[in-house]
Amino acid sequence: MKAVILISGRGSNMEALLKADIPVEFAVVISNRPDARGLETARSLGVATAVVDHRGHADRKAFDAALAAEIDRHAPDLIILAGFMRVLTADFVRRYQGRMINIHPALLPAFPGLDTHARVLAAGVRVHGCTVHFVTPEVDVGPIIIQAAIPVLADDDEASLAARVLEQEHRVYVQAVRWFAEGRLTLRADGSVAVAGVARQVTALISPPPDAR
Ligand code: GAR
Repeated sequence: MKAVILISGRGSNMEALLKADIPVEFAVVISNRPDARGLETARSLGVATAVVDHRGHADRKAFDAALAAEIDRHAPDLIILAGFMRVLTADFVRRYQGRMINIHPALLPAFPGLDTHARVLAAGVRVHGCTVHFVTPEVDVGPIIIQAAIPVLADDDEASLAARVLEQEHRVYVQAVRWFAEGRLTLRADGSVAVAGVARQVTALISPPPDAR
């Protein structure tokens, strides 16, 4: 199973995937920003990198065409968005539908978009988390593969919450990619995701969670 990872910055989810013991060949890490810290991390782990700078393209369509050309050079089975902070055109998303996944730092469909941790605190919700989902043309919407939930504590601030969610992101993203690589994910006609051989509750990890493998 061949995958490419798309990043824009730090790349900690990417790093968790590259270091995980999963049957995946990571062909390349692509960033839309030449200064993304994750590029250096990928190289240090022996993974090829490429930059498709969004600033060098006239519009979204031109950028997406260049990005698709770079992706397709590697003929991946799976495209992994890991902190990739560009809105993609519907044509681009449709081209990879069913084989492009994203991680979002909230329990979708609650809190799509940016600044999720601050918005969670402001809303006073008691449970927060992260979601891995298949990408569909609408941003931060799409069939859910796995979620992890954590409690929002009375003394949490944005940084503490972000750190605890990130810890769960690294776990669920590795799990989702492992399932994809093992051919266990099925996108059903009704838009839900089935994971073969896995009880439904295992796709909803509660922190501290049971071992989900
Ligand atoms: C992660 O928290 C990821 O969930 C979020 O960006 C961060 C990237 O961190 N993604 C989104 O907000 C996408 N809507 P990382 O570069 O260290 O993996």
